[in-house]
Amino acid sequence: MSQSKNSRQVGFQGYHRPIHGEPDSELTDTDRGTPCGEYLRRYWQPVAMSSELSDLPLAVELLGEPLVLFRDLSGNLGLLHRHCSHRGASLEYGIVAEHGLICCYHGWHYAVDGTLIRAGSEPEQSPLCKNIVHGAYPTAERNGIIFAYLGPPEHQPEVPVYDTENLEGVTAVPFSITTPCNWLQVYENTQDPIHVLHLHARSSGVQFGEASGLDQEIEYKTTPVGMINVQSRKVGDRLWVRSTESILPNGNQTGAIFEEAETEKYFQRSAVLRWMVPVNNTVTRTIGWRFFSNELDPRGQADPNQVGKEKIDFIGQTEDERPYAERQRQPGDYEAQVSQRSIAVHALENHGSSDAGVVRIRHLLRKQVRALHNGEGLKHSQPVGATISTYIQDSVMPWPRGVSADETTILRNAGERVSNVVIESGEEPSAERKRQILQACNGIAAGQGF
Ligand code: FES
Ligand SMILES: [Fe+2]
Repeated sequence: MSQSKNSRQVGFQGYHRPIHGEPDSELTDTDRGTPCGEYLRRYWQPVAMSSELSDLPLAVELLGEPLVLFRDLSGNLGLLHRHCSHRGASLEYGIVAEHGLICCYHGWHYAVDGTLIRAGSEPEQSPLCKNIVHGAYPTAERNGIIFAYLGPPEHQPEVPVYDTENLEGVTAVPFSITTPCNWLQVYENTQDPIHVLHLHARSSGVQFGEASGLDQEIEYKTTPVGMINVQSRKVGDRLWVRSTESILPNGNQTGAIFEEAETEKYFQRSAVLRWMVPVNNTVTRTIGWRFFSNELDPRGQADPNQVGKEKIDFIGQTEDERPYAERQRQPGDYEAQVSQRSIAVHALENHGSSDAGVVRIRHLLRKQVRALHNGEGLKHSQPVGATISTYIQDSVMPWPRGVSADETTILRNAGERVSNVVIESGEEPSAERKRQILQACNGIAAGQGF
């Protein structure tokens, strides 16, 4: 029986409501050969922090592939398929050699590129060495993070460097956090700004800044590298415009964690640059840098000593940090994301207007996944070798003077203007971008253009 438009659905329908559903595997399945798995494999992915590597090999899993990461005695990094090409023993028990790694079981010796240097007790000229190449992937190491490229060698891109990585006065501390659920729900959380108001300010009390709990106007913009959500708030007699960024396929940048918008600032950059990397389809590892500077943390609430393996200096990101009852009373991102099921079922979701960011990031991803799957290739908007411009920023300006428009209109207008400048100035040097943003903010504060 169909319900008329205005009649409310009757309650107690548990028996008729679905409990399970099929995942949106086009975006959630990251195994090799799947559309999304192939898409993610076209980009360098962080695999571990340098500090996790000792003199022993490290068993790792990435995109559903069991691997072993090691540094040989010459200092070269290797990332090999974990199971030996001889008879499958795990190379995590291998012996690190001057060059490469030697399997413990029968002594097969692999170079970091997977070539077989010596097949154990077989003669030195054994045809095995000519005929067998073990699975290996290229690696790159930067600022304490080891990246790997698991895609087809003929499509290997340059290792990207982002414009927020090496800023003066900013210290970068690597971290790595495991979340037992699909990568997409961890990733898309950053395009769900309304959760900051609910989860981090109302449901659990203020978990980050007081100012982040204030009402906000939100809009979304596509950028050359992905998208931003733009949050505009009135904080006392100031106007705060924040952009939170997704860098496709799985990178994120977030602004100052404890921002209170207490002082004027223009084009303040990232507090976190991280990648939500599928370990497999039901485990995600977020690896990245937490950035520290006086500007990002004027009240001294951030703590680099709390950042590293399975830890970060803000609440609600791991299971072990608090007892279950406390996590129930004051849940954080970890509880929200993991409890969406091990793979969230999009078909069972019911979206409202505030889900626009999640809808858009899924749309952008799907477009890319399908383009690659249909043989159209990927769009790389940045010139090879260049530092990649990003669109993360916080700006705080005085509330506009002498404007009769209502608060919502002012916030929307300011968010639009600041984010347009941030995007349009993308190819300019950083100082010039800051100048243009300052100019736009001065115009807003002076009440121009309303
Ligand atoms: S299983 Fe590795 S050398 Fe035999
Ligand atoms: Fe959050």
